[in-house]
Amino acid sequence: MSDSPIRPVRKAVFPVAGLGTRFLPATKVMPKEMLPLNDRPLIQHAVEEAREAGIEEFIFVTSDHKDMLAKHFDFQPELVETLKSRGKTDMLQKVQDSDMPAGALFLTHQAQPLGLGHAVWCARELVGDEPFAVILPDDVFLAEKSCLAQMVEAYNELGGNLMAVTDVSKEDTARYGIVDIKEDKGKTVSINTLVEKPGPDKAPSQTAIMGRYILQPEIFEHLSAFETGAGGEIQLTDSMVKLIESQPFHGFRYDGQRYDCGTRLGFIESNLAFGLSDSEISGTLEKILRNLLNPSGALNEAAE
Ligand code: G1P
Repeated sequence: MSDSPIRPVRKAVFPVAGLGTRFLPATKVMPKEMLPLNDRPLIQHAVEEAREAGIEEFIFVTSDHKDMLAKHFDFQPELVETLKSRGKTDMLQKVQDSDMPAGALFLTHQAQPLGLGHAVWCARELVGDEPFAVILPDDVFLAEKSCLAQMVEAYNELGGNLMAVTDVSKEDTARYGIVDIKEDKGKTVSINTLVEKPGPDKAPSQTAIMGRYILQPEIFEHLSAFETGAGGEIQLTDSMVKLIESQPFHGFRYDGQRYDCGTRLGFIESNLAFGLSDSEISGTLEKILRNLLNPSGALNEAAE
């Protein structure tokens, strides 16, 4: 495998079939991936990251009631005309940024919520026989160069399989796939094996997988065994463990900060972080935060 040329990553899979139960009732009708992070929905952040990484084909693994996700990327002629006639060019630009190039969006269904591994397997026909990226939209990054773009650069040198990793606290290992490190090279780590969501006493390290992967298509052979793992789900991590026996795997320590939009608190934190990094609103947002944390100070500030 190491002798064969490194094939480019052109496709990305977005597992977006989840019910979003942690965000009920907000997600009763609206898909979780449509929740806005600063000025755009989570799914748009994920798609923009993929675009920046040079991805040409976008594969959404969806479920019932998720039509809105594809619609969001459709050309909206009426909206465009209205914005044009009102001279709202800045908004027009923002809306046009969310259009998907024609023929670039592909949809497939995950009929049952059987786990992340199963969701990725559902995309096998659309991915075909080439390397591909997986983006979990719950994981968002503030970085100068997007996380996946950094990974594609590293992949073009290294080949094999790659996943974003970062160090987490001991108490948090049970929330992630955890890496058993063979060799720590700083920016990258080579991997002995992986464990999905081990408790602190079972975790082989504190280096955790964040939701960005570049995988070789041979992963589908292992996914199709449909074996269940942690939480009774078909885990992507378990098939990666099997592929490690025949292909190189690297953990990639990205530059930037990752935020977790998969929990209520993480989502609020993400919104604050993205707001504070947006020059259009950061100054006022800082004031609002100061005032909320210190209401009497706010009165003083107002009186000044
Ligand atoms: C998934 C993966 C896990 C990874 C995590 C990153 O878990 O199974 O290995 O560390 O994403 O967010 P989930 O959060 O879907 O339970």
